[in-house]
Amino acid sequence: MPKRRKWPNVMTKIGFIGAGKVGTALAVQLSNKGYPVVAVASRTFASAEKLAEAVPGCKAYENVQRIADNTDLIFITTPDDAILEVVSQIKWHKGNLVVHCSGAGSLDILETAQKTGAQVGAIHPLQSFASVEQAIKNIPGSTFGIEGDGPIVDLLEEMAKSLDGKAIQLGAGDKVLYHAAAVMACNYFVTLMQMSTDVWGKFGVDTNDAIEALGPLLKGTVNNIINAGLPNCLTGPIARGDAGTIQMHVDALKAKAPKLLKMYCDLGLETIPIGIAKGTLDKQKAEEIKNILEDK
Ligand SMILES: NC(=O)c1ccc[n+]([C@@H]2O[C@H](COP(=O)([O-])OP(=O)(O)OC[C@H]3O[C@@H](n4cnc5c(N)ncnc54)[C@H](OP(=O)(O)O)[C@@H]3O)[C@@H](O)[C@H]2O)c1
Repeated sequence: MPKRRKWPNVMTKIGFIGAGKVGTALAVQLSNKGYPVVAVASRTFASAEKLAEAVPGCKAYENVQRIADNTDLIFITTPDDAILEVVSQIKWHKGNLVVHCSGAGSLDILETAQKTGAQVGAIHPLQSFASVEQAIKNIPGSTFGIEGDGPIVDLLEEMAKSLDGKAIQLGAGDKVLYHAAAVMACNYFVTLMQMSTDVWGKFGVDTNDAIEALGPLLKGTVNNIINAGLPNCLTGPIARGDAGTIQMHVDALKAKAPKLLKMYCDLGLETIPIGIAKGTLDKQKAEEIKNILEDK
């Protein structure tokens, strides 16, 4: 494999198009680490001005073209669906480095820029950003999925490291699966919490109280996943082989929350091999639990 050239050791001027959660968080944190973030434009000037106010030396522009004209490395941090349109409306320069932060989108959405001689790449913060403030806090230490060819990859990897993060390189064909997995680990975790709190609602606990009560359990589980790893982090009735408990769950859900029964059983079936791999669920108990979950 040919050795990649190192990116020239010059301060690359950075601009942002899209002043939302990710754009603002990256701009603030890169600036904190000494990267010169000098220009921003957004759909509305008000958002661009707000980002510029948070980053010393950054100027807000009304027109996105000014970002390509005044900076070397341009982050396109608009929603995924707007990236193609934004890239197509700009006259790119040969030296521009154009980067998006989409998790599922690949480099083909930057093709127009590449055709005019710009180098293209992608850097996806593998993190969940619900608000600008929280995004600024969560960026450091995140993992960054990086895609590209040649020296732009070095530059993006260096940035990930500067942000105390970990860089993983992705090929174009990996991106959608990488993102689907992230959606399961992150967004569907939220869905599971919604379902769990709905079940608590059946015995009169409101959603916020349920979140407060289940929160420490959730944090403990995340710690176990990170510290003990798979499959050792698995606890609970399936790991113990408590078929009677699973039968009671199925009966109660059937009676009080039938809409959630299928999901409970499907996830239970996926949990059986984890219990077996951990070594605490024997084959006979696994079969018993499987029959209960398949029977519904
Ligand atoms: N949120 C996450 O958890 C997360 C995590 C990792 C990666 N990402 C990726 O990061 C990117 C940005 O996501 P986000 O969550 O930061 O989105 P966001 O908070 O909705 O911000 C998007 C920004 O883009 C601006 N915008 C929309 N259309 C535009 C256009 N045509 N031209 C110029 N600016 C435009 C909006 O401008 P105005 O404010 O001016 O209206 C808004 O400030 C996406 O590619 C997303 O997939 C998101």
